[in-house]
Amino acid sequence: MSLPTRVKLVDVGPRDGLQNEKQTVPAAIKIELVQRLQEAGMREIEVTSFVSPKWVPQMADNREVMAGIVRRPGVRYSVLIPNLQGFEAAVAAPRAQWPDEIVVFAAASESFSQRNINCSIAQSMERFRPVVQAARDKGIYVRGAMSCVVGCPIEGEVAPRQVAQLAALMKDIGVQHVGVADTIGVGTPTKVQRALEATLQHYGINDVSGHFHDTYGQALANTLASMEMGVWQFDASVAGLGGCPFAKGATGNVATEDVVYMLHGMGIETGIDLDKLIDAGMFISDCLQRKTGSRAATAVLSKRG
Ligand code: HMG
Ligand code: MG
Repeated sequence: MSLPTRVKLVDVGPRDGLQNEKQTVPAAIKIELVQRLQEAGMREIEVTSFVSPKWVPQMADNREVMAGIVRRPGVRYSVLIPNLQGFEAAVAAPRAQWPDEIVVFAAASESFSQRNINCSIAQSMERFRPVVQAARDKGIYVRGAMSCVVGCPIEGEVAPRQVAQLAALMKDIGVQHVGVADTIGVGTPTKVQRALEATLQHYGINDVSGHFHDTYGQALANTLASMEMGVWQFDASVAGLGGCPFAKGATGNVATEDVVYMLHGMGIETGIDLDKLIDAGMFISDCLQRKTGSRAATAVLSKRG
């Protein structure tokens, strides 16, 4: 299989990245981060989540952030939704502030499902079914995130069979696209390929994306291994921000800057301006008073002087 010539990246930094921050990040900073990402050419941004603020306090300003972003034509804005209550909150705003896409999220492992969303995998599907229906009735695209596709922080190894089962369930409730997520970043290229193969039993190649956390430094290798199978859509997080509050020790997603550097170096188009993306990463890293998690940004910045 030849590699794709163009790759679509979704920056999940404002959501997956910032959800894990202990310090309060003001809504104005989140709004400016979204602005800078779109100025860098990012065409899809996961902006926030409408989850319970008791579970994830950092995302409690979801309405304010959705109301504050200045939308650009051609950019798709998505939000994570755990239940009907979250969906209703997301569409209670004027239509211009609705998300273009929602992300429902379930786990390939039972224990992580319980820990993350306080219900079994089967119960989560029943919870999501009316959400998917309501979103599609309103013309909102539905993506599904499948967590722990190679490993679970509680159960350890996750078998491809469990991933195939979850993909089938997602398909059954009407989810249009699925993200294959290595939540704790334990996957290696062949394991990730097995998880993708399991997913591709139920979804076409254009409806599958990769979401790799970089805990063990495998995420770029896993991205390339996915591309070798024809996958051309990936989530990434500017400055490598984040992690999941319910997966202790897991670091952020692969840094978007590092993926863009790799892709451009391979002659693969992304539509993204790497320099502007690095600036967006520095903006948020400075706000958080920490170094960027992107190796490419660190290298470029050391040359800028
Ligand atoms: P629960 O406590 O079982 O829910 O939480 P409940 O229905 O019993 O409600 C309890 C309280 O929460 C009630 O309030 C509800 O109103 C409120 P009270 O009556 O006690 O005052 N509530 C809500 N409030 C606002 N918005 C809502 C909402 N729902 C209930 N939508 C629930 C169940 C799913 C809500 C909870 O477990 C939750 O919000 N979990 C979110 C967990 C989360 O955000 N995890 C991180 C994102 S997933 C991730 O990062 C992985 C991903 O990146 C892919 C990967 O890497 O794997 C996507
Ligand atoms: Mg994640």
